[in-house]
Amino acid sequence: MNTILVGAQWGDEGKGKIIDVLTEEADIVVRSQGGNNAGHTVEIGKEKFILHLIPSGILRAGKKCVISNGVVIDPVALVKEIEGLEKRGIKLANRLLISETAHLVLPYHRKIDEQRELRKGRNKIGTTKRGIGPAYGDKAARTGLRLIDLIQPKTFSAKLRARIEENNAILKSLGGEPLSFREVEKTYLAAAEKLRPFVTNTVVWLHRQLENHKHILFEGAQGTFLDIDFGTYPFVTSSNTTAGGSCTGSGIPPHRMDRVVGVMKAYTTRVGEGPLLTECEAVSDMLHAMGREFGATTGRARRCGWFDAVATRYARMVNGIDELAITNLDGLDSLKEIQVCIAYKSHGKRIQFPPNDVAELLQCRPIYRKFPGWQQDTSGIRHFKKLPIAAQRYLTALADLTGARLRIVSVGAQREQTFRA
Ligand code: GDP
Ligand code: IMO
Ligand code: MG
Repeated sequence: MNTILVGAQWGDEGKGKIIDVLTEEADIVVRSQGGNNAGHTVEIGKEKFILHLIPSGILRAGKKCVISNGVVIDPVALVKEIEGLEKRGIKLANRLLISETAHLVLPYHRKIDEQRELRKGRNKIGTTKRGIGPAYGDKAARTGLRLIDLIQPKTFSAKLRARIEENNAILKSLGGEPLSFREVEKTYLAAAEKLRPFVTNTVVWLHRQLENHKHILFEGAQGTFLDIDFGTYPFVTSSNTTAGGSCTGSGIPPHRMDRVVGVMKAYTTRVGEGPLLTECEAVSDMLHAMGREFGATTGRARRCGWFDAVATRYARMVNGIDELAITNLDGLDSLKEIQVCIAYKSHGKRIQFPPNDVAELLQCRPIYRKFPGWQQDTSGIRHFKKLPIAAQRYLTALADLTGARLRIVSVGAQREQTFRA
């Protein structure tokens, strides 16, 4: 069974937690797109881990993890993440593989990301400033550097020198400070030595595992509405966060994928700018007061609102979601009444799918259906049938409105606070 797991909303749906749960039945976990803009939280007992580039499956002993070709890698950040895990007793040797064709995030990508956001002012995207957009931009422009370059010092230095020259000119035009070639060369070559043992041809390795009937789990990063093609462009990230990205990002063909799991919260959140039709201050205030919904990567407060079934229906369609994992049900425990957006009103007409134009989307108004709350703590519940009837009905309605089968319910950040539906 090869499974693709994707975020069905705007990221931070709880993918890390669900990956950790599903890893029990998998042999290999693969990150195939995005970079260290991702922040995937896994809580095991008193320990809390936030993974940025390394698949969340690394926390289960014996499982292998792959960072494949579609990911953009900041080598310095990756070394830091590896060392951080090693310090906490997680063994990585012979368990982590990194694709030699993954592209590098370089310091000029981060600086350009920062400068572009600054210059956009009120129109900024609200990026994580990790250099993701400029790195994927270089990949598409065929001016990127890859891991395979990094581990060959002479090649790397020659290519880097040319790239620094061009990017310093870009930085200057944007009002940023130029970078020193020597400094970047030194820090990156030092990181290369640490990464070298992990770097390999992951396409060939993964196919060998398939021949041996191993089960692969693809850990999507970000979410459907941050997808470069299907998201609320330009308020998106720069990769295909939807199911197809797992194929192009790893070299595993579509017909080898057996199922797609969509992860979604029982409400909606978004961090960064861009349309969020169901945004609701009262929901944000309630969740923030509970100490929840602060970004795992940047610490920014997430914008929160009601569940948007127009969005998740579209997510089901573009990803081919078979099964749903609904997280954070417990976040709604105290509410007397819960709203769910079931359609949009656009120019006086009822519409069922989100318009592609941001201006068009912004003039839409959500049409809500009200659900009674359950006003009971669900965090200790471990069986679907033990949930309050109102919570069961709410979850069933979310799955029906989205159009996929409800499979997993999560009522807390801990591994154990999860059950099958
Ligand atoms: P990801 O990026 O999709 O992996 O999600 P994040 O880790 O960025 O954000 C999800 C947050 O919700 C994290 O703090 C998780 O620990 C937490 N979380 C996940 N599922 C649940 C749940 O069912 N209930 C509660 N209370 N927290 C959850
Ligand atoms: P995980 O994997 C939530 C958002 C940023 C910004 C936009 C573009 O943890 O769900 P970028 O730095 O990628 O150029 O930023 O995308 N964003 C995320 N939001 N979760 C994420 O990852 C995100 N990764 C990027 O906030 O709005
Ligand atoms: Mg996250």
